[in-house]
Amino acid sequence: MLNVKDVKKDFPVLKNRDVVYLDNAATTLTPDSVIQSLKNYYQNLGTSVHRGIYQLANETTEKYERARKKVADFVGSDSPREIVFTKNCTEGINIIAYSLHHWPEMEGKILVTEMDHHSNILPWRFMANGSEKFQLEYVDVTKEGRLDLEDYKSKLSPDTVAVGVPGISNVVGTVNPIKEMTDLAHERDALVVMDGAQWLPHRKFDISEYKVDFLTFSAHKMLGPTGLGVLYGKEDLLCRMPPPFGGGEMVLKVDRRKVKWNDPPQKFEPGTPPIAQIIAFGASVDYLNELGISEVNEHVDRLAQRAVNKLSEIPYVDIYGPKEGESRGGLVSFNVEGVHPHDLATALDSLDNIAIRAGLHCAQPLHEVMELNSSARASFYVYNAPEDVDRFIDAIKEAKKILGGADER
Ligand SMILES: Cc1ncc(COP(=O)(O)O)c(C=O)c1O
Repeated sequence: MLNVKDVKKDFPVLKNRDVVYLDNAATTLTPDSVIQSLKNYYQNLGTSVHRGIYQLANETTEKYERARKKVADFVGSDSPREIVFTKNCTEGINIIAYSLHHWPEMEGKILVTEMDHHSNILPWRFMANGSEKFQLEYVDVTKEGRLDLEDYKSKLSPDTVAVGVPGISNVVGTVNPIKEMTDLAHERDALVVMDGAQWLPHRKFDISEYKVDFLTFSAHKMLGPTGLGVLYGKEDLLCRMPPPFGGGEMVLKVDRRKVKWNDPPQKFEPGTPPIAQIIAFGASVDYLNELGISEVNEHVDRLAQRAVNKLSEIPYVDIYGPKEGESRGGLVSFNVEGVHPHDLATALDSLDNIAIRAGLHCAQPLHEVMELNSSARASFYVYNAPEDVDRFIDAIKEAKKILGGADER
């Protein structure tokens, strides 16, 4: 079990600011060890990577590649060549969509789900619009906020090129049946692109278990620095895919007409990378490993379940997504009758410094399906305690009294 009191001490923001931070699905706070790693790069290293042939540059490159190895181990990949560093999760999916679209043999259907974040919809839509090569279709979501597997099976056809799916929905929190979906997709030779932005921060992921072809996630949602994401891709695919961006270090040979791409991951990492962030992300992975990802998972899911249970007892609150623990990951979205989520979020902030998210959470198609204009969302992480959930619940009741009148039912 996590010792939240001790964990909290590692997060300077929680010492410096009076905040109950429940917006972790957007971005997590940064522990001391990661901040120190960033500082260490600028104070003691400061050079580029893969370019210099002097000792200092070699040391930076060695630390940088060690971080890549840690990330590979974290997702169960045998080869750091399968780990491409990107700007964020969004950029990773854009790279995949572009590359598949520009790959001569790839032609047919792209299946995404109604619960995908815009990040796993729009890159595909950009490629499908005005092109004969890709047609985009959506897998339905049930009223309960689960993927409709029968609909998925019926839409998976022999011409399906790729399936995009969030491991965990950032709105309804649903943990999707990735293994089953991947097996079904592979039976039809379709590739699977898992958006792991909400999974990787608090759930064990092993590529040998889930077997997806591509996985993307963001460092800043798992204690790491901003400006950094990860694209995992199976090595043989990365070797064959055309890269979307050109520039330094991504080529082995260039003359005035021809070019020979470098091997992955460099092929997809043109220009000077975010070196400090990558090295510091290694420290985030260390921190999570020290806590134990299973303990993190248990803790975060327990907090989410506590919130779901307590919200369920309030008659004027509507909760979205599955109610039971094992199919919900780390967050809860809801609405308070008669109170706009923006007003609710502002009230929680001013009443008790409680930070939640309100709006559409970059998932407008899902809100359209659920017939909602917007929703409020609380999401939990390693430094949140059960008391934070209780303060959040008390503040909702207080806000309702102020904004929407006392409940009269
Ligand atoms: C499920 C999901 N996918 C993708 C993203 C995009 O992440 P980023 O903004 O770091 O690219 C988010 C961010 O909220 C998300 O929740």
